[in-house]
Amino acid sequence: MKKAKIGVIGTGSISDIYLSSPNTFLNYDITGVADLNIKRAEEQAVKHHIPFAGTVSDLLAKDEIDLIVNLTIPGAHADVSIKALQAGKHVYSEKPLATTYSEGLRVIEKALQQGLQVGVAPDTFLGAGLQTCRYLLDKGVIGEPIGASAFMLGKGPESWHPNPEFFYKQGAGPLFDLGPYYLTALVSLLGPVKKAVSMNQITVPEREITSQPFAGKKIKVEVPTYVSSLLQFGNGVNATFMTSFDVWNTKLPKIEIYGTEGTLILPDPNGFDGPVYYMNQETTGWQEASLISTLSGNCRGIGLADMISGIEEGRPYLCSGKLGLHVLELMEKIIESSDTERFVELNTQCEKPKPLANPHKLYQHLA
Ligand SMILES: NC(=O)c1ccc[n+]([C@@H]2O[C@H](COP(=O)([O-])OP(=O)(O)OC[C@H]3O[C@@H](n4cnc5c(N)ncnc54)[C@H](O)[C@@H]3O)[C@@H](O)[C@H]2O)c1
Repeated sequence: MKKAKIGVIGTGSISDIYLSSPNTFLNYDITGVADLNIKRAEEQAVKHHIPFAGTVSDLLAKDEIDLIVNLTIPGAHADVSIKALQAGKHVYSEKPLATTYSEGLRVIEKALQQGLQVGVAPDTFLGAGLQTCRYLLDKGVIGEPIGASAFMLGKGPESWHPNPEFFYKQGAGPLFDLGPYYLTALVSLLGPVKKAVSMNQITVPEREITSQPFAGKKIKVEVPTYVSSLLQFGNGVNATFMTSFDVWNTKLPKIEIYGTEGTLILPDPNGFDGPVYYMNQETTGWQEASLISTLSGNCRGIGLADMISGIEEGRPYLCSGKLGLHVLELMEKIIESSDTERFVELNTQCEKPKPLANPHKLYQHLA
């Protein structure tokens, strides 16, 4: 198999895991990096033995690069992805696809125009934990799903992220930053969402950074930090979904799915591991499920590997632009519902992604 040549734009906090991922996945090499901060791009290139570091336009001018991985901040995602598509490269973008639905649509339409592909993170739903949930649901261990609940409640990233300001700007906040993990997991298991209603608030309008190097700097909060929503899926399942950066602690589960015959407890969707628990009439209490794959630990890059193999084989890939656009529209509609105090219907649809097939073809440790 010919390895795809990848360029990475954005060499900040999350870049290490992507830049080391060719050690894990079989079908790509990273041959160049770029960042507005060229020094950071150069340092990351040296650290990960990548032959080229430079400006975005110099990276995009390289003919041998097939696909750009976009690891910039959310506010730059759409522009950087569109530039990459204009330069004739496929794109795999970190979440969210863009900060607004209309910008996200622009990215997808540009790709269509150019005959290129767009993939969108998160890819955690391809990990051992959530793929096991998919297997159990398809086997009917909890019967037909009727309801779900999902809770992402925490205190915000200003105590640990080195540059946390963007988390409180458009395109982030608890909903747009961590919501994609929960919503992508739910859509991958239950299919697309039909309508949403919510109540939201900005609890503290100004927050203080406590991490280095910007400790003491104030951040003006521009997005809701406490979001309570109800979602109705196309298959009739009703879900309760809360996200917040205002909560000190909680004992609520991450995600549960309720069925006609039992209950399934999902693992943290911001990870690839288990544990997965279920109960039904045949179990005595909660049963921990054996995981059906070994894709655990930090496997960021599996979605990219699957996309590359999908392009090569002419088959749909799982972290699709359509799924990313649906999740983006859903998040926007959750905010709109609170602003307008009414239920909001979604316009986009996407297919429930198929289970990940043949991970051993992509994954070094299983090859
Ligand atoms: N940090 C995490 O734990 C984490 C986890 C999963 C996903 N993500 C996602 O990854 C993306 C990046 O997050 P991060 O934490 O690495 O952010 P970061 O702020 O640490 O890094 C972003 C980098 O992008 C560069 N950049 C910004 N705009 C650019 C532009 N127009 N052109 C070129 N470079 C540009 C910045 O200079 C910076 O080096 C975000 O979408 C975030 O949601 C982050």
